[in-house]
Amino acid sequence: MKKGFVLNSAAPLLAAVVLMTQPLHAAAFDAVAGEATLRREGCLKCHGIDKKKDGPAYRQVAAKYRGKPEAEEKLITHVKSGRVVKLSSGEEEEHRIIKTTDEAEIRNLIQWILSLE
Ligand code: HEC
Repeated sequence: MKKGFVLNSAAPLLAAVVLMTQPLHAAAFDAVAGEATLRREGCLKCHGIDKKKDGPAYRQVAAKYRGKPEAEEKLITHVKSGRVVKLSSGEEEEHRIIKTTDEAEIRNLIQWILSLE
């Protein structure tokens, strides 16, 4: 009897925990908006999501920074600062500086890139 009571009362609790954590997770970044930013900014000319072009594929970038807590701030600085990078042709040039000044949009983009599996 007692066992049945524990099981029955745990189920709604578990359901509540799942419901509470899911929307939080989904709201962390917006993939559709992230991709729209890439298109508008012309980033896809040099970066595929999956394909390396003049720059690394975004999935490679995500893999490189997986588990590194400083990645988000580092990449936000990267897209805003225009440091010299090496293209796959071996040529060097200053990296494209992102045009938007919307900090939330930039953070959303970087969080989404870092989430790519
Ligand atoms: C002219 C080509 C070109 C364009 C356009 C371009 N990138 Fe890049 N990007 C590169 C290259 C080359 C690298 C490799 C840099 C390195 O590893 O030294 C790079 C690296 C990166 C990285 C990884 C940096 C790191 O530390 O590993 C990110 C993130 C990135 N670019 C985002 C963007 C975004 C966002 C845009 C659009 C605003 C953009 N790039 C536009 C060529 C480009």
